[in-house]
Amino acid sequence: MEFLRFLASFFLLLLPILSILFLTQKASKPKRQPSPISLPRSYPVIGSFFAVLANSNRRLQWLSDILQLSPSATYVLHRNFATLQVLTANPDVVQHILKTHFHNYGKGANFQLTFKDFLGQGIFNVDGEPWKFQRQVASHEFNTKSLRKFVEIVVDTELFDRLIPILSSAARTGTVLDFQDILQRFAFDNVCKIAFGFDPAYLLPSLPQTNFAQAFEESVAISSERFNAAIPFPIVWKIKKLLNIGSEKRLRIAISEVRKFAKNIIREKKHELREKASLDSVDLLSRFLSSGLSDENFVTDIVISFILAGRDTTSAALTWYFWLLSKNPHVESEVFKEIKEKSEAPIYDEVKDMVYTHASLCESMRLYPPVATDSKVAVNDDVLPDGTVVKKGTRVTYIPYAMGRSETLWGPDWAEFKPERWLKSEEAENRQWKFVGRDVYTYPVFQAGPRICLGKEMSFLQMKRVVAGVVRLFKVVPAVGEGVEPECVQVLTSKMKGGFPVRIVERDDVNR
Ligand code: HEM
Repeated sequence: MEFLRFLASFFLLLLPILSILFLTQKASKPKRQPSPISLPRSYPVIGSFFAVLANSNRRLQWLSDILQLSPSATYVLHRNFATLQVLTANPDVVQHILKTHFHNYGKGANFQLTFKDFLGQGIFNVDGEPWKFQRQVASHEFNTKSLRKFVEIVVDTELFDRLIPILSSAARTGTVLDFQDILQRFAFDNVCKIAFGFDPAYLLPSLPQTNFAQAFEESVAISSERFNAAIPFPIVWKIKKLLNIGSEKRLRIAISEVRKFAKNIIREKKHELREKASLDSVDLLSRFLSSGLSDENFVTDIVISFILAGRDTTSAALTWYFWLLSKNPHVESEVFKEIKEKSEAPIYDEVKDMVYTHASLCESMRLYPPVATDSKVAVNDDVLPDGTVVKKGTRVTYIPYAMGRSETLWGPDWAEFKPERWLKSEEAENRQWKFVGRDVYTYPVFQAGPRICLGKEMSFLQMKRVVAGVVRLFKVVPAVGEGVEPECVQVLTSKMKGGFPVRIVERDDVNR
């Protein structure tokens, strides 16, 4: 124990020393502001540590700048202790790692270890057979029949019984809402119903702080802090974990709360399945239990990964979408026009048919992809299509955020929010819009290849249903000062820093 305390003190001492070094380096050159678009300098042993630290509060923008300067949109970043990380915004490289050389790129030992306490053997944290098994069983949850049920029962109930009444009340009273929080609660209720067949009732007018949701939030935040720490010494969190102090103590408590909660539901579900000959609910948990899986820990891991998959992704996408809509009234009025043509509670086929709204969501994710960066680790030595040499164990990170902002990929008007870039007008068919997708390697917002997001179609249906329900009745008006731009931060998914304060205004231009 004494030795561990010594180690902890050593590394905790190292942090201020490095920070002082960094600050003195900055202070000695007061007039030379680092250019936001210059390639990072690298030093022996510490690599580009100073540049990483200096840009830690604008990480995504910085990585995008680096890739913009790199001729093949691929750059080798020197991390500490001679570790290399390949960054890329090159569609050929993305195709190489996600599809053509899929078997050579896995989650990597560091990622798996960092997330093991929270995700265990869940789909997000495994490769090989455990991944194949989970993907295969889960894929049934995403067939057309299940998706239809999801939209018409789960999403509609949450929308009409919870979201719209809360927005109506806020419109009447003029209350400012944190729309990001509201959308996260909405998505959390929905995904728990799909994963467990259980309703946590997190989106209620009182905005309750339920233990499970809070513990889940804390587990995500601290696990991703472990991974994204600007000072990249995993030994720091490992020692804190051993000593059970600080954030690691909080993480342990949060994870045990999440697992205790999940296990109770699993036991209830097992009981239900024993009592009934056939399944009336077809949630994911029932599917896994009916597949003969008996290991309670493994089932818990599986369910946690699915909640994570569905919780923050759609809510992040919708948060940025409503922000962009408020800044682009012409797009909002086109979306409204399309929605008005549908029935008040558009049925599954109508939601599928909302082509302009679909394009506007794709466009919003282009600029604010919910998973802004994603990494794979090379199993063996390799050479990427642009000639970059990759040694076994190297992390290759593709950056959808940078790709969506690339002039090469999207043209000189890349900064414009323009759903039309995803649409073709069909003159012969009464000027109906037709959706024109981009190839998945240029737009890997849902990843691509064998591990492409399982919930892609489900999330579009959910998002379009929410947009239809909200935009038909309300305008969402940001309650921020003139000219204030929200900051995009990554807590596994892209969040709006500090939340998204809005006022809700009832529309007067809809015949209800
Ligand atoms: C806008 C919404 C969404 C986006 C942008 C998105 C994006 C992604 C991305 C980038 C991955 C790859 C992660 C990785 O392995 O590194 C992924 C995987 C996955 N997503 Fe989604 N996702 C969304 C919504 C959903 C929803 C609603 C569900 C289901 C509840 C879901 C289920 C999954 C699953 C199960 C995987 C793992 C696939 C595998 O490893 O084979 N996603 N998603």
